[in-house]
Amino acid sequence: MDNKAENALENSRQLEYIEKTKELIANKKKALGRELTFHVTTFGCQMNARDSEKLSGILKAIGFIEIPDEDKADFVIFNTCTVRDNANQRVYGRLGTLKAQKKKNKEMKIALCGCMMQEETVIEKIKSSYSYVNLIFGTHNIFKFAELIYTMYESDRMVIDIWKDTDKIVEDLPVDRKYPFKSGVNIMFGCNNFCTYCIVPYVRGRERSREPKEIINEIEKLSKDGVKEVMLLGQNVNSYGKGLDNGISFPELLKEIEKIEGIERIRFMTSHPKDLSDELIDVMKNSKKICRHLHLPLQSGSTRILKAMNRHYTKDSYLALAEKIRREIPDIAITTDIIVGFPGETKEDIDETIDVINKVKYDGAFTFVYSKRTGTPAASMENQVTEEFVKEHFDRVLNTVQERAKDRAVLKTNSIEDVLIEEINDHDATMVTGRLSNNLCVHVKGTEELIGKIVTVKLTECNGFYYMGEIVD
Ligand code: SAH
Ligand code: SF4
Ligand code: F3S
Repeated sequence: MDNKAENALENSRQLEYIEKTKELIANKKKALGRELTFHVTTFGCQMNARDSEKLSGILKAIGFIEIPDEDKADFVIFNTCTVRDNANQRVYGRLGTLKAQKKKNKEMKIALCGCMMQEETVIEKIKSSYSYVNLIFGTHNIFKFAELIYTMYESDRMVIDIWKDTDKIVEDLPVDRKYPFKSGVNIMFGCNNFCTYCIVPYVRGRERSREPKEIINEIEKLSKDGVKEVMLLGQNVNSYGKGLDNGISFPELLKEIEKIEGIERIRFMTSHPKDLSDELIDVMKNSKKICRHLHLPLQSGSTRILKAMNRHYTKDSYLALAEKIRREIPDIAITTDIIVGFPGETKEDIDETIDVINKVKYDGAFTFVYSKRTGTPAASMENQVTEEFVKEHFDRVLNTVQERAKDRAVLKTNSIEDVLIEEINDHDATMVTGRLSNNLCVHVKGTEELIGKIVTVKLTECNGFYYMGEIVD
């Protein structure tokens, strides 16, 4: 059987499990005389968030009801992240708190999944210190969630199902979208880049692209369902299509998505600088729908450190690329990720990073403290830097990033922009918050009816990283 046929078979097997588990849950609810509730917590990136939507989709399909309070749920699912150690520590902390809750609610089940679960040391720790966890699975088999829930209810021991890798891409299972008007869309899974500090290739497996036809079908369906903005997700979208039989490139895929009626905004992440093509710049420049935002992770501005990170570009080639993008698409926002404290890093290396920040003038950046990840090449490098070094230099980087971002944001004050309204303002219920094409936020007077609509807004005031605005018609 070829891969496609196998995936289709697995899909129907899982749909059968959804029915079977639905029956099981219905019987449980009858016996209890009440509903069963769930809560999914996402700890990681946008891909992790998209996986959580798939978990919720299956849970709702089998008859669970979502509630906002994790402690009160009958089924708590932690979709974990392990990219930096603080994400792991948060999971252990929350698991500790849940122990007491589980004693109070006899029905409570706890499941752990996501990237952290792909690490053997984590599984050992959970088995020995958190034996009250009911189900553990990984990143490669979330499509089996209904089947795993069935097994969990049939078993009185901890159920563990972790796959090392997979070539399966199971399509067409239920998904419960968080927003009605925008959606993430996986275009590829895994990563083959092996940046020396990064654990993602070990926990997400080898790079696999979805068939263009499947992606287009999914986005057409989303559009019919009212979605206006899609975010195409992959660890390195620029290598999309490699390994597919009649593989198309990422820019070609973008052109196909542009044709889909009803989709008004297209975003994507992440773009690795090493293989961002002129074709991509050209397609972005000529597109009416691709947002004016490019996330282009730098990690370090020092060519020496970039080499040790296995990033396959230099300070100069990165600067040349950023300059070309700014020249071709002048209104684009460029954002980035920076790591401070990589093994062997010196004050001079940090100076190089700051130089790049000043030259590219990022519109925004995430600055991370280097976190040692067991099993990655950087973890066994001898020249690990001290906490003092990080303390001394982290703020220098952060301040430069913030100053440049403010310089950039202020340039748009008083301009008129299209804004997709996303939610009621957190602090003032008479206001709503939306996003510009360049991904910055704006707050305007308005009510719930505006959510999901694209409106024209005058940016009246810039407050550093966001704007206050007025709707103009
Ligand atoms: N695939 C994306 C990044 C995914 S991880 C890319 O290559 O751009 C998101 C960010 O986490 C990375 O860009 C990096 O800045 C940061 N990161 C990854 N591993 C890290 C580590 N060990 N310590 C600190 N930050 C890390
Ligand atoms: Fe990690 Fe590098 Fe892959 Fe990004 S490209 S996920 S940083 S290994
Ligand atoms: Fe994402 Fe964290 Fe996994 S960043 S890919 S959830 S390790």
